[in-house]
Amino acid sequence: MNIRRRKNLRVIAPCFVVIAIMLGLVAYSPQLYRLLCGATGLGGTTQRANVDTVAVSRRTVTVQFDSNVAPGLPWRFEPEQRAVAVHLGEQKLVYFAAENTSDQRIVGHATFNVTPLQTGIYFNKIQCFCFIEERLDPHQRVDMPVVFFVDPALAKDPELRSIDTITLAYTFFRSANPANAKDLSRFLPNGLLFAERCTACHALETNKFGPMLEAVIGRKAGSVASYPYSPALKSAGLTWSAENLDHWLSDPQQFIPGVRMPTRVLEATSRRDIIAYLQQESSARFKRKTTEGSGS
Ligand code: HEC
Repeated sequence: MNIRRRKNLRVIAPCFVVIAIMLGLVAYSPQLYRLLCGATGLGGTTQRANVDTVAVSRRTVTVQFDSNVAPGLPWRFEPEQRAVAVHLGEQKLVYFAAENTSDQRIVGHATFNVTPLQTGIYFNKIQCFCFIEERLDPHQRVDMPVVFFVDPALAKDPELRSIDTITLAYTFFRSANPANAKDLSRFLPNGLLFAERCTACHALETNKFGPMLEAVIGRKAGSVASYPYSPALKSAGLTWSAENLDHWLSDPQQFIPGVRMPTRVLEATSRRDIIAYLQQESSARFKRKTTEGSGS
C-alpha cells in the first residue's frame, strides 16, 4: 500500500464510522427517544420516581387530566376527575376508567404526555402505570390508578414561575403488537389482592419462585411441566377447585405436608376474593383460548 492510499484510507475510514453511527441512531431512535426522554423529561414525558419523602411546599398547582381514544379502538377511556389541586411535593392518587364497549377482547396501547412541555421533568409518577399494551375482555370496565407528585423544584425554575396548571394526557390506540399485553383486570379489586399477596412468587403466565397460575382451577396439582415442584405437591393427586384452594391458602403445609409454599392467607374473605379472581381469570382465559383469532 503506498503512502497516498494509506492517507486516503485514514480519511475514509472515520467517515464510514460516522455514517455507521448515524444509521444506528436512526434505527434506534425510538428507543433512544424513550431513554433520553425518560431520563430528562424532554418532550413532555414524565419522570418515574421511587421517593416517598419529598418536602411538601405551600405552593399549589392544578393538575388537569385529559384522555383520548384513537379511531379504531372501541373503548371508553376517561379520567375520573377532571382536575385536582396539589401542593408541590404532595402525593396524589387519581383514577382513569377504561371500558371495552365491544364483544371482543382487545389490546390497547397508551402514550402520555405532560404540558406545558417544560413541566415534564417536574412531573413524577411514583407507580408508573403507563398503560402500555393493555388487554380488556369484552365489556370489561377497570379503574386504573396513577400516583404522582409535582417536584417542589418547579418553584425555583424561573421559566415556570407563573405556571399554575399542568395537564397530563393519555391517548389509547389499538395495539399493533398484542402478544405481550397485560390484563387490565389486575386493577380490579380482587386482582389487586392477588397482586399484593401472590405476585411476589407467582404470575399467571410464567413460572417465578412459584408455578404459573394460569387456569389453575380445574388443573391437576403439580402439573406445570416446566416447574420443579416438591415431590409432595407433584404426587398430591388432586385437582384444584375453589374448595381445596381455600384449604391450601389457609395453610399449604398443613394441607399437603412437605410442600414449599411458605405463605398463608388467614382471612377467609381475602381467600374468597383471591379464589374469585383466579376463577374469573381461568374462565376468561378458557374463553380466549377457544375464540383465539377472532379478536385481537
Ligand atoms: C413466598 C412465595 C409464595 C407466595 C407469596 C405464594 N406462593 Fe403459591 N407457591 C409457592 C411455591 C414455591 C409453590 C410450589 C410449592 C411446591 O412445589 O411444593 C406454590 C404453589 C402454589 C399453588 C399450586 C400450583 C400447582 O401448580 O399445583 C397454588 C394454587 C398457589 N401456589 C397459589 C398461591 C396464591 C393464590 C398465592 C397468594 C395468596 C400464593 N400462592 C402465594 C410460593 C408462593
